[in-house]
Amino acid sequence: MMTSPSDMVKDKTVLNIDSIRNDFPELLRMVHGVPLRYLDNAASTLKPKRVINTVSDFYAQSYSNIHRGVYLTSQEATQKYENVRTIVADFISAADPSEIIFTKGATEAINLVAATWGDKHINEGDEIIITTMEHHANIVPWQMLCEKKNATLKIIPIDDNGEIILEEYAKLLSEKTKLIACVYASNSLGTINPLTTIIAMAKNVGACVLVDGAQAIQHIPLNVQELNCDFFVFSGHKVYAPSGTGVLYGKKEILNSMPPYQTGGDMIRKVTFEKTTFAAVPARFEAGTPNIEGAIGLGAAIEYIRDLGIEEIGAYENMLLQYATEKLQQIPELNIIGKAHDKVAVISFTLGSVHPHDIGSMLDRKGIAVRAGHHCTQPLWERYGVTATTRASFAFYNTKEEIDALFEALHSVVKMFA
Ligand code: ALA
Repeated sequence: MMTSPSDMVKDKTVLNIDSIRNDFPELLRMVHGVPLRYLDNAASTLKPKRVINTVSDFYAQSYSNIHRGVYLTSQEATQKYENVRTIVADFISAADPSEIIFTKGATEAINLVAATWGDKHINEGDEIIITTMEHHANIVPWQMLCEKKNATLKIIPIDDNGEIILEEYAKLLSEKTKLIACVYASNSLGTINPLTTIIAMAKNVGACVLVDGAQAIQHIPLNVQELNCDFFVFSGHKVYAPSGTGVLYGKKEILNSMPPYQTGGDMIRKVTFEKTTFAAVPARFEAGTPNIEGAIGLGAAIEYIRDLGIEEIGAYENMLLQYATEKLQQIPELNIIGKAHDKVAVISFTLGSVHPHDIGSMLDRKGIAVRAGHHCTQPLWERYGVTATTRASFAFYNTKEEIDALFEALHSVVKMFA
């Protein structure tokens, strides 16, 4: 008798998945008359009741603008908002809450660094290094900066498994290198990059390092001080928080040396018609009324996953990844792209010559939500000679049964197109 993947991959998790699933109301939804099976967590994650209730309670009880009112609800709102800075700083082990800047997402955080630090420090002839597997958000801002400054963008190649070729990276480094902007975990391949090595090599040539942690924050325990990165960015919506939220972490001395990004209210020290002086960090980079309720929701999301345990989450998702990989590999027509040794729970694949959009639409009719397309990494897919893939990505609320449903549905797709 054949051993099934479910026998081979033992579920060693300590998480109570049934109870966790009850925390996510959307998981109870029916779509097209069947239960929703949400396997598009790399695109965005569903929201637990703790986040939904925190935002709703804030709107109902404490909503006011922050940093401006002497009255009680404004002070409550300010305290809740600022408390999230501490929650985030603790979660990623930043040295100080003032190193946490709220943005509307990882994309804005990277653009902020490019427009401020980049504009100040990148000059003609300088070099910026990124990897082949970057999200467009960690390519285009550097490309535009290089065009503006007459600097050069260099790309670290990857091997067929989707791992960075460190020897090639070493060859790109020189005294001209001013910045390495590198994704921690690839949203398309799942690859977890060897950041400690990458950052140590960058520091040897005196380069600054920005880490795109959008696909790592929800799976991997983080310590930005140990990593020794200069900047770390992530999006709230991928970590169970409201969309339109995100974080830029930066070392305090670097943030304080950067010119402002957007200008306006709340980021100034003094304004006269002749001259304006600017507030210290973090206020300097948070012009205007921010997404107050979103940030407060972000705090609730981080507390929620912190209480579950990020290591426990990672272990369970890794079990799902192994289970799904072994299972999907049983389909002869299916080719997984991204076979790195260390991966987060993301599987991109092609299925014979069936277009990913057709696969995505057929899976949708069976209640299975996956992403089909280029996943905002077009240059990566060029490396593999494809324009699009289908991607299933898992969170701690997913189950082996949902993966079984994906497996069965893919079989139907193969049969239909055979
Ligand atoms: N960057 C998101 C994804 O990977 C939207 O799908």
